[in-house]
Amino acid sequence: MIVPAAGRGERLGPGAPKAMRSLGGVPMLVHAVRALASARAVDLVVVAAPEDGVDDVTALLAEHGLVDSAPGRAGALVVAGGDTRQESVARALNSLPADVDVVLVHDAARPLVPVSLVDAVAAAVRGGADAVVPGLPVADTIKSVDAADVVSATLDRGALRAIQTPQGFRRATLAEAHAAADPDAPATDDADLVERLGGKVVVVPGDEEAFKVTRPLDLVLAEAVLARRRAAGVVA
Ligand code: C5P
Repeated sequence: MIVPAAGRGERLGPGAPKAMRSLGGVPMLVHAVRALASARAVDLVVVAAPEDGVDDVTALLAEHGLVDSAPGRAGALVVAGGDTRQESVARALNSLPADVDVVLVHDAARPLVPVSLVDAVAAAVRGGADAVVPGLPVADTIKSVDAADVVSATLDRGALRAIQTPQGFRRATLAEAHAAADPDAPATDDADLVERLGGKVVVVPGDEEAFKVTRPLDLVLAEAVLARRRAAGVVA
């Protein structure tokens, strides 16, 4: 399991790096790592932290008991990320033990990912797919625009999916895709790198609670989801 968490998250406004923003009093990264490490399919979580933040992130995860593995929960390892998400994932991929043959990549910016989605993506890869992404139908009508913001096309909404993480891959597929990647045209997700090589990427049903915290309103929604889970006794 790889977690790119080295971004600054400027669209959220000024403040700490996005993965370190607080959600219910705990940094988003802690929520994400806790959920991933609890999935049955996950043996190890590798977090790509900002280059100057490896020690701090390791200390943070240790403080929450997430570095060493525990019964029913995988341990976590922190490595230095890069200038782009793509580079952060590539660095984490290089640090995986040799015996790992299925790799999931999950954005720290999706802190409330349900454990069931993590297991479903891993199961689809183990079931034979080379690359698996969770996707949801889109609610808005999506149009493409030109440089002057004039609409150039309206896309067929029925054929569109909003793609989330975790994305799952055979390790060899992901490694090949990253080795062939163009550093000057970084991808915003890992499946795109597989697509560029002509690989087949399968979509499985996503989950609304795996939404990405990008803008300030997303934080409001995340706090509400967390409060609902806490009221239901689902999380501490
Ligand atoms: O910017 P965006 O929301 O697409 O970032 C997705 C994920 O990639 C975030 O979890 C962010 O921390 C991570 N990232 C990274 N290294 C970078 C830039 C982004 O690990 N250089």
